[in-house]
Amino acid sequence: MKNNQLLDTPEKIRSFQIEFIEWYEKEKRNLPWRINLDPYRIWISEIMLQQTRVDTVIDYYYRFMEWFPTIKALAEASDERLLKAWEGLGYYSRARNLKAAAQQIISDFEGEMPKSIEEIRELKGIGPYTAGAIGSIAFGLPEPAIDGNVMRVVSRLFEIEADIAKASSRKLFDEAMRLIIDEQRPGDFNQAMMDLGSAICTPTSPKCEACPIQSYCAGYANGTMTSYPVKSKKMKPKDVYYIGTIIENKKQEYLVEQRSDKGLLANMWLFPIKEVTKKEFEAMQRDWAEVNQQLALDIDQESLVAEESSSQLLNSYDQVVWQKRSLGEVTHIFSHLKWHILVFYGRGTENHPLEPQQEWLSAERFSEYVFPKPQQKMVELLKKEFSSKK
Ligand code: ADE
Repeated sequence: MKNNQLLDTPEKIRSFQIEFIEWYEKEKRNLPWRINLDPYRIWISEIMLQQTRVDTVIDYYYRFMEWFPTIKALAEASDERLLKAWEGLGYYSRARNLKAAAQQIISDFEGEMPKSIEEIRELKGIGPYTAGAIGSIAFGLPEPAIDGNVMRVVSRLFEIEADIAKASSRKLFDEAMRLIIDEQRPGDFNQAMMDLGSAICTPTSPKCEACPIQSYCAGYANGTMTSYPVKSKKMKPKDVYYIGTIIENKKQEYLVEQRSDKGLLANMWLFPIKEVTKKEFEAMQRDWAEVNQQLALDIDQESLVAEESSSQLLNSYDQVVWQKRSLGEVTHIFSHLKWHILVFYGRGTENHPLEPQQEWLSAERFSEYVFPKPQQKMVELLKKEFSSKK
């Protein structure tokens, strides 16, 4: 870290804090988790906001607070309802950890959020960022809360060269924040940082002319602000290929199956999907592109459709599925994986053999089940297919 001469005495730091907090008081966003200092409300908001944008979080947040208004209600929540509350937010382990931590608070802390940073850190799913946010906002502890936004602001303020993708850089940012945090109002200071990072000190074109702390910023003074933060390239997510099958029976129910209780999307419901190799996937893409062309010519003769499909999965349903057709492709990126699903539709008979984790489900009841994003995208394809064919 270079020495920032704009922030190198206690007096300069104090006027910086005063100006910054004044700006926050005037400009702070009206957000539902800012209406009081209830640590439970702050905790839930910080977990939701970790990988999700403020605009998206707000509706989820209101509903979550309605369904689980207290730590006790969360500790006693059914997994099904909890996942339902989280449906569409992604990173579902966050929801599972919330419940585990709520149970920890009930058993180890008499049902009240603990008030020391060390104890808060003991809770499941709470790392240094969340502990700092809860500690500073709810309890006034002089702890930094360092997320990506804050690292961007601080790296520009001090021209910090450390790579923010590396865990080892954390210490430097922690030191810089401890140097400047307003110990009388740490919660407001941290939230001012967050608001500045999202509204003004943005990644590609920061609005320095509107910045309340421009005169303390080494990056601005030297015109280097957009060179920070330094960040090494992320690894590309790994591609994984699937065939998805949407099977409808004569009662207009669809075959869905629940995933196991471990791993990615644990316990959630999807149309059956089967992993295939990239080669198999591409071969099916090619075969079905031809079939679809034929289909387009022959739209009223659905039953003609390609029985000579190359897919083992489709073949395994052959006795019971007919009128197969391809609906298109769905992709979804998780943090480290990219799913490609080639989606097929077919009619099945009720005596289609069901596996224990499978059920027939009518479209009206889809909302009762927890559907992760890739499943929601498959449902969209299905809807599109039928709205265009009617
Ligand atoms: N992002 C993460 N935490 C936040 C908070 N408390 N207010 C606004 N944005 C945030």
